[in-house]
This record gives sequence, C-alpha cells and structure tokens, in this order.
Amino acid sequence: MTNQTPISVRLMIAVVGFAGLTGLWSACSSEPVSGSGQELFQRYCATCHQPDANGVEGAFPPLRQTEWVLGDKGRIIRLVLYGMQGPIEVKGVSYNNVMTPHGFLTDEQVASVLTYVRSNFGNDADAVLADEVTRVRAAEGERDLFQSSRLRFRIGIPEAEEATEASAATIEQ
Ligand code: HEC
Repeated sequence: MTNQTPISVRLMIAVVGFAGLTGLWSACSSEPVSGSGQELFQRYCATCHQPDANGVEGAFPPLRQTEWVLGDKGRIIRLVLYGMQGPIEVKGVSYNNVMTPHGFLTDEQVASVLTYVRSNFGNDADAVLADEVTRVRAAEGERDLFQSSRLRFRIGIPEAEEATEASAATIEQ
C-alpha cells in the first residue's frame, strides 16, 4: 500500500498553483499604467463623474463647462492630487460629498487626464503641463483632503523656486 496523494488533490494543487502564478504575472505586467488622457479618464474619473462626464445630479458633479474644469489650473491640479470634501455648487446644483485623492498618479498622468478633460466634453481650455503638476505637488507636499471652502480660493501655480521654498518650510514645521 502506498500513501500517495489522490490524483484529484494533486490536480487541484497544480491548478491553484498555476492560477496563483498567472495572477502574479499579470499583476506585475499590468503596472505601471501610463495610458492616454482618455484611458486615464475612463479608469480614474468616469466611475464617479460618468463616462460622458455628465455626473450624477446631487452626488457627482458634471465636468462639462464648469467653473472648476475651465478655471484656474492650480486649483484642479490640487483637487486631483489631494481630493476634496465639503459643500460646493456646480451649475446651480449643490453637492456635499467626497472626491478621493489621486496623488498616486504621476505628474504626467495628472497633466494628461486634466488636459483631456479640459479639451473634451464641450470644454475648450488650455493644456495642463506635467511641470505645473510637479510644482504644485512640491509646494503642497504631503497633505490631507482639502476642504471645499479652502480649495475654492487656493489658486495659482507656484514658481519653481517658490515650490522648493514652500516644501522646505513644510519640512521645518
Ligand atoms: C470617488 C468619486 C470620484 C472620483 C474617482 C473622481 N471624482 Fe471628481 N469629484 C467627486 C465629487 C464627489 C466631487 C465634489 C466634491 C464635493 O462635494 O466637495 C468632485 C469634484 C470634481 C471637480 C470640481 C467640480 C466640477 O464638477 O467641476 C472636478 C473638476 C473633478 N471632480 C474632476 C475629477 C477628475 C479629473 C477625476 C479623475 C482624475 C475625478 N474627478 C475623480 C468625485 C470623484
């Protein structure tokens, strides 16, 4: 008599092992996602703002010709990097919800998705540059979600030197 493992068990181990390996493989090979502005939008923004950028009234504001989308670049860069919570009004509709931070995206990805949004869905505003995202990120450093009342007035893109000074000041504090 042998104490061999039944064939069905061995098969199962083989299948699970294989699935595990392929899972690991795809997890490694699917990173990092660079993607076009459109791909990034569909992946990171459309879940809430909807693929047509019309939003969901009262829950997720639209991204079509809004003050925020067409307005100051420094403000929407901060919004995407750090997220926002609190009451805002967009096209006459009130929202008081949370937009999650997207600081895990690279400067190029943030620039690319914002440029896409600002030049599609009926929007016609100039491009956001990766360098502008770099400068805002350097000036703000690590931080929590913005309150809408604060972010509303937090506009402009710091000069390269200011960005360095500001992040040095943050470290000193
Ligand atoms: C988890 C859902 C969610 C995701 C993902 C999300 N947003 Fe938002 N977004 C919101 C909510 C909610 C608000 C309003 C926040 C508030 O009430 O203070 C908002 C507000 C905005 C605004 C300002 C208001 C307006 O409509 O003009 C812009 C611009 C914006 N988001 C762009 C983006 C972009 C670009 C992405 C993708 C990089 C994105 N959002 C991803 C939920 C989301």
